[in-house]
Amino acid sequence: MYRTTFAIVDLSALAHNIRLLKGRLAPGVRLLVAVKADAYGHGVRPVVEVLRREGVYQVAVASLEEALQIRAFDKEIPILILGALGVDECVVAAEAKLDVLYTDLCPIPDIPRLPRPLAMHIPIDTGMNRLGFKSIEAALRVIETMAHRADIRFAGVCTHLACADAEDVSHALGQVERLLQAVQTLRDKGCAPPLVHAANSAGLLRGEAWQFDMVRVGIAAYGYSPDPEVLPQPELHPVMHMYTSITRVADVSPGETIGYGATYTAQCPMRVATIAIGYADGFPRILSNRGMVRVRGRDVPIVGRVCMDQAMVDVSHVPEAQVGDFVTVFGIDPPSAWSASAWRSVPPEHRANWLQETFALAANEEGRNVLSLSTVAPLAETIPYEILCQINRRVPKLYVEA
Ligand SMILES: Cc1ncc(COP(=O)(O)O)c(C=O)c1O
Repeated sequence: MYRTTFAIVDLSALAHNIRLLKGRLAPGVRLLVAVKADAYGHGVRPVVEVLRREGVYQVAVASLEEALQIRAFDKEIPILILGALGVDECVVAAEAKLDVLYTDLCPIPDIPRLPRPLAMHIPIDTGMNRLGFKSIEAALRVIETMAHRADIRFAGVCTHLACADAEDVSHALGQVERLLQAVQTLRDKGCAPPLVHAANSAGLLRGEAWQFDMVRVGIAAYGYSPDPEVLPQPELHPVMHMYTSITRVADVSPGETIGYGATYTAQCPMRVATIAIGYADGFPRILSNRGMVRVRGRDVPIVGRVCMDQAMVDVSHVPEAQVGDFVTVFGIDPPSAWSASAWRSVPPEHRANWLQETFALAANEEGRNVLSLSTVAPLAETIPYEILCQINRRVPKLYVEA
């Protein structure tokens, strides 16, 4: 390991969040965790291994490819594919013991006789206008077609809530109400769904009335409230922490400009630090002249444009800042053991280990603050989900069980 830009993925925080979320479930409600997009950028394999240990009922992905990636290392864990699949994909899904959603891409009569039974969930569009049946009569016709197939099992009905994290819950309540009506209609017609699920993280956090038989949680498992203002969740622990370091510190005189396009002009004498992270690492370019990182416990603004591999920050008010200092991109302050001289003294092949061990040891270190991704993401006009998913392969992920 040579470059000081990396992410720490704290698997004990993930386990903590899962236990906490399980504690919020009504008796008998199952927990599904969304691990699509490489487990929201955290790395699907280590995440699924923790979820299995923590007794999560099922995991969900967006595509057949993502599901097969999990099947390659876990032959048993129940997996639900949330995206639309074609007929060929349904055949592969059945072979690999993957549960699917019914969509118009895979009409039941077009599906050939399957080698193993395929569990199919029927999505009901209660107000998201993304996937699912708008008409319960149409859903019923498909469920009846399934009943004639020994190799296709009606596994349940689901919907997706568009506004469960909104201050005004009327939209979400309307969706819940329409789902209840749909379930009642199915029951009346003798097609009672074996499983009903609707709630995402926000739905789960809203309370038991939204949870039905199963909840599908994503962002809360990774440590974030879907909206910290509306549903504050201080007990959740962020799982990912991201760091880089200072590669240069320079004095900048009034009138000098910083970075591509000379978009920032110094108005007074400044100290500017260069950090080893850029948009090619998933650090959004939109943070140019508006984002911040944390140096020696203080928030420092990004000045000038974020480059592909580097960015510049104003450390005028952090006189101790120096080359080699670790910088928090988001997450908890670096452990006190992380110094430029310690990094240099550890051979490159041992650095990952050293970072993991010192991070775990510092778990109870006093006075460490968090630069929350819930603070950083809005500066990039986005949500933590997107930033987490976009941290790319160039950034090593170091797994820790603190
Ligand atoms: C169908 C479905 N269910 C559940 C989730 C999990 O949502 P969240 O991460 O907000 O909990 C997602 C995520 O986008 C989803 O698409």
